[in-house]
Amino acid sequence: MNLEWKGQPVAVRELGQGPPVVLVHGYPLDGAMWSGVARALSTRFRVFKPDLPGRGENPTLPAGSIDDDADFIGAILGQLPGPAGLAGFSMGGYVAFALLRRGAPNVGALALLDTRAAADDDAGKAAREASIAAVRSGGAAAIVDGMIAKLLSPASLQNASLVERLKRMVLRQKPETLESDLTAMRDRPDATGLLARIAVPTLVLAGVEDAITPAAECEAMAAAIPGARYVSIPAAGHLTPMERPGAVAAALSEFFAENLSAGSPANGS
Ligand code: MLT
Repeated sequence: MNLEWKGQPVAVRELGQGPPVVLVHGYPLDGAMWSGVARALSTRFRVFKPDLPGRGENPTLPAGSIDDDADFIGAILGQLPGPAGLAGFSMGGYVAFALLRRGAPNVGALALLDTRAAADDDAGKAAREASIAAVRSGGAAAIVDGMIAKLLSPASLQNASLVERLKRMVLRQKPETLESDLTAMRDRPDATGLLARIAVPTLVLAGVEDAITPAAECEAMAAAIPGARYVSIPAAGHLTPMERPGAVAAALSEFFAENLSAGSPANGS
């Protein structure tokens, strides 16, 4: 799919045919984090794995706000013929909450992966400030090792090819984009009050060893969303789509196949 964003052309990678599914990546990553999952889903769905503004190969500038990212994903959803599946991983989940806040037109089923509804607390905001200072002085290289240690489970950290792929992805992100992401996440509003009003079928998924958004918190989030299904991914940390792409794709595929055709737009505003 090609779209114009802030006056510039942006190509959005897509693969497969079927009901549309849009996959929203996390920080400090880009759409390539979904490659294994997207390949598996593409046998049944038309899968989009966009790079958010400024990330990966998206040439447009990030605006330092989750709402701006939500506008970008909204522009993709707006081009689709009918209700789509929306999957947000971590920061991508924050983007999904921003879309829900405005009614999420054209979302027929929602998957929230390794994410949280709560805003940053004071310690979280202070950690964002420290990371902003680090990327200002040293770019992605200054945060890459610390992030990888938090993103992966101890067992995944032993997987040299996974670590190498992840490292390349983090290192290709621009310092100004990383700063923009950190600012956007620091300033995002709390979405806890939204959970009870989510009216679209929802799946919440988390790695059992998630060190960033703990599985227990994800499970509690699922319990707060009417009718939501919770799936736990064993032998995975935070980055479930790259650590266990087959298991994540299987859970998403089953969920979207069940819910997309019958799905109705969300109204959690
Ligand atoms: C992510 O995985 O997108 C981020 O680590 C989320 C966060 O830092 O809040």
